[in-house]
Amino acid sequence: MNRKKKIVVLTGAGISAESGLKTFRDSNGLWENHRVEDVATPEAFARDPDLVYRFYNLRRAQLAEVNPNPAHDALVTLENHFQDDFLLVTQNVDDLHERAGSKRVLHMHGELKSAKCSKTHKAVRWEEDLTAMNLCDCCALQNEMRPDIVWFGEMPYFMDEIYQALFQADVFIAIGTSGIVYPAAGFVAEANSSNTHTVEINLEPSSVQSQFDEQHYGKAGQVLPDYVASLIGE
Ligand code: OAD
Repeated sequence: MNRKKKIVVLTGAGISAESGLKTFRDSNGLWENHRVEDVATPEAFARDPDLVYRFYNLRRAQLAEVNPNPAHDALVTLENHFQDDFLLVTQNVDDLHERAGSKRVLHMHGELKSAKCSKTHKAVRWEEDLTAMNLCDCCALQNEMRPDIVWFGEMPYFMDEIYQALFQADVFIAIGTSGIVYPAAGFVAEANSSNTHTVEINLEPSSVQSQFDEQHYGKAGQVLPDYVASLIGE
């Protein structure tokens, strides 16, 4: 039987690099002399909420200055071809996949354009700066609204759906991710355990590169459009 393939794609900060967003682990990995990990934990938010609000406010505002690049566009082409047999899992908190036109997207690490109540976890769409003064809809208290970002030590979103999709996938493609942060770094092993063909597309070999069946190195905006064309043509 000539069954249509099921594709799962994982993206990381590298896919947005050519749009002008910095990756996490490039240069010295510091933001105003803070390690990124130090502004991306529940402890950091408890210790210095204004610093954490400012970090994400700047990143949210930056989205207005950047646009999707050919790598984001290539994933829209892939989705248009495979439709419901396609799932895009992103670790990115930017909105470039949606702005390119991707529809079947799961943001496993949350989104800059979402904020949530720390108490009830109710999330709302958020376009403006977020501060301690903002009241949440549910308990109407100050100091409770936080960026809807999965911080270090917190459980990423959609894990059941993602593992289910990996289990059923024929092809798993990881793009622009260093393979350092788990659980996403473990998706290739999960896919391999169910005989999925695994592909890495990255600027350079990632920490988990040896686990992939196929590797393509270079800028995603250059490598991915050709790779997608070859996959669709198969
Ligand atoms: P990293 O900054 O760890 O890795 C980015 C990867 O993209 C590196 O392997 C680069 O070599 C590669 N890269 C850079 N430019 C590229 C290009 N033009 N084309 C292709 N690849 C390129 O980012 P992530 O792996 O996404 O978590 O980091 C994972 C998570 O760690 C993030 O989601 C974030 C962070 O802490 C949270 O915020 C919860």
